Amino acid sequence: MSANLIDGKKISESIREEILAEVQRLSEKGIRPGLVVILVGDDPASQVYVRNKAKTCEKLGYHSEVMRLPAETGEAELLTVIERYNADPAFHGILVQFPLPKHIREKAVIDAISVDKDVDGFHPVSVGNLVIGDDALLPCTPSGVIELLKRSGVSPAGKHAVVIGRSNLVGKPLAMLLLRENATVTVCHSRTANLPEMARQADILVAAVGVPNMVKRDWVKPGAVVIDVGINRLPDGKLCGDVDFGEAAPVAGAITPVPGGVGPMTITMLMANTLKACKLAHG
Ligand code: GUN
Repeated sequence: MSANLIDGKKISESIREEILAEVQRLSEKGIRPGLVVILVGDDPASQVYVRNKAKTCEKLGYHSEVMRLPAETGEAELLTVIERYNADPAFHGILVQFPLPKHIREKAVIDAISVDKDVDGFHPVSVGNLVIGDDALLPCTPSGVIELLKRSGVSPAGKHAVVIGRSNLVGKPLAMLLLRENATVTVCHSRTANLPEMARQADILVAAVGVPNMVKRDWVKPGAVVIDVGINRLPDGKLCGDVDFGEAAPVAGAITPVPGGVGPMTITMLMANTLKACKLAHG
């Protein structure tokens, strides 16, 4: 058996086409989704991510702004900037790019963003809404994984989903979303006993740990759907996931590649969240 490839690039493009059509409909009513991305300091990886977000906004016809602040910006000053965008009706989404310089508390920043504009889905109220099952702004990478599954014809309902990783960014919210989709969910982590055996129970196996090529052939139940959230850079500069693709692909029923799997979905879901926030703001 050889796995079907889940093409995140293609799925992401078809979602972007749907978004573009919606943006065109809104523009007839004089409404334009707006996103501000705030970048503090000059972390090189963040510069690339922020540029990509701005480019995607432009392609989809969003109003967008990149607010670049010097690394020395104080926490209070950043919170004042956030307050200004909270009050600005031209922006429906606010994203503060992480990591932040050490002297700024990420928690204070997350708490300051208006829940209505929390397109990252990191605010405690957004997390609460996610757990309760309210139709909130959902964190981008986890909701991207759900979209990948659904649009590949994989229904999580009644399946055993095993999520390896318990981060606030991916593992925990994804476990909640899979539960909302009626999967039976197991969350594994660095202290889980006999991880390969746990992984082997999965109908849907998600790896989100940041350990290159960790998931091997004998971790995968034959026919399982394998979703690789990891993006790791090897010493030779190549990208690889948390799943050893060469080992897992012959056993899995379907699998995401790295790159070109979950990665392209994250910005797309950010755009979808901004559109959703815009529509909510305009009733
Ligand atoms: N830095 C790396 N990933 C993310 C993300 O999803 N959101 C924000 N705000 N910063 C990030």
